[in-house]
Amino acid sequence: MFDLIVRGGTLPDGRVADIGIRGDRIAAVERLPDDVAAGEVIDATGDLVSPPFVDPHFHMDATLSYGQPRINASGTLLEGIALWGELREIATVEAMVARALDYCDWAVSMGLLAIRSHVDTTPDHLNTVTALLEVREKVRDYIDLQLVAFPQDGLYRAPNGRANLIRALDRGVDVVGGIPHFERTMEEGARSVRDLCTIAAERGLPVDLHCDETDDPLSRHVETLAQEVSRHGLEGRAAGSHLTSMHSMDNYYVSKLLPLIAEAGVAAIPNPLINIVLQGRHDSYPRRRGLTRVKEMQAQGITVGWGQDCVRDPWYSLGTADMLDVAFMGLHVAQMTHPDEMRRSYDMVTVENARILGLRDYGLEPGCQASLVVLDAGDPVEALRLRPARLAVISKGGVVSRQPRGDARLGLPGRPESLRRRHLPG
Ligand code: FE2
Repeated sequence: MFDLIVRGGTLPDGRVADIGIRGDRIAAVERLPDDVAAGEVIDATGDLVSPPFVDPHFHMDATLSYGQPRINASGTLLEGIALWGELREIATVEAMVARALDYCDWAVSMGLLAIRSHVDTTPDHLNTVTALLEVREKVRDYIDLQLVAFPQDGLYRAPNGRANLIRALDRGVDVVGGIPHFERTMEEGARSVRDLCTIAAERGLPVDLHCDETDDPLSRHVETLAQEVSRHGLEGRAAGSHLTSMHSMDNYYVSKLLPLIAEAGVAAIPNPLINIVLQGRHDSYPRRRGLTRVKEMQAQGITVGWGQDCVRDPWYSLGTADMLDVAFMGLHVAQMTHPDEMRRSYDMVTVENARILGLRDYGLEPGCQASLVVLDAGDPVEALRLRPARLAVISKGGVVSRQPRGDARLGLPGRPESLRRRHLPG
C-alpha cells in the first residue's frame, strides 16, 4: 500500500520505473504490480520524472521589485547595487515577505524546491534578515530555503558590515557570504576572504562568496578562497559564486588556478542569465561574454552548478523561476551543446546543485525524500529544448502543483507529440 504512485515515468538516467511513495519518503523505484493499492496514482507514461530543481544562488530579498524605486537605466551591476541600496531602506518587512512568498509560488510551479538565497546584511535594521527568516519558516513544508549572510556593500567597506553579518549569523542564517571584489582594495578583499572562512570554520557553517564578479582579470580572490578552504578543512561546503573574472584571465594563470580550486574542494556557481547581461558593459568590440570557465573547471573535477541569481529586481528585468531557462542560457553561453554536455547541464540544475547545497536524502531512490517533478518531455535534453509544463510537482510526499499538458510557448497547445521526439534522430 502506497500513499501515492507515479507510474511509468522515464528517469533522467533513462530507466523506466514506477515510484511508490509512503509519507514523505520514496518507498519503491521499480515496476510495481498493476493492482497494488495506492491513495493516488499519477500516470507519467512517456514523461520525464526528475528529482526537483535546485537553485544554489538567488536574492530573494530583492526579487519581484523591478522598477522600485525606478528601473536600472544603465543596466550595470553598480547601478543595480545603488538602486537596491535605496530600495532596502524603504521596503517594509511585510512587502519583502509578500514578494518572496509570491516568488516561492512561482518556484513551486516550476518544480524548484530547494533554493539558496543570499540576504543583504548591510543595513543596521536587518529588515531583510527578519523578512527572509520568516519566509524560510513559512515555506519549510514545501521548499528547502537556505539563507546566506551577504554583506552587499562590503564586509569592511560598509559601516558595521562585519558586525551586522555576525548579527545575522547569530539569528540563524545558515551560510557565510561575502563580496571580496567590492572591498576597497585587493588586500582588503583578500583579508575579507580569510576572515569569512575563519568565521565559517569556527561556527561549522558553509561559506559561499560572491567572488570576482568583475571583468578585471586581476581579480583573483578565488585563489585566496581555495587556500583558506584547504587551511580550515572546509572542503565540500565552500563555493565561489560568479567567478566571472576567470573569463578574462590569462590562460597560463588559469592553468595554475583550476587545480588549486579542485584540490581545495571549492564548488563554482556561475549565473548565466545575469552575467551575460551585466558583464562586458565597459567593452566596445569584441565584447566579452563574462561567463566563467565552466567546461574547463568540470574537466578538472570541480563541481559546477548553474544559479539563477535574480528574477525581476534591480539587476535583471526578466526571469521565471524556471531553472531550465537558467540551464538553457548557460549551455548556450558556455557552448555545451553536445548531448552529453546538455545532460550535464540538466544535472547542474538538479543533482550537482543538490550536492553544493548539501541536501540530504535528495534523489530518486528508495529512502530519499519524496520530492520530484513530472515534466511534459521524454528526457533531460528534450526538457531543455522545450522547457515544458511541469505536469505534477510533489514535495515531501504531497502534490503541490499541477499544470496541463501541452507546450503553449511553442504555440501548439494540445499537440505535444508534434514537438516531442517526432523530428529527433534515433
Ligand atoms: Fe548574486
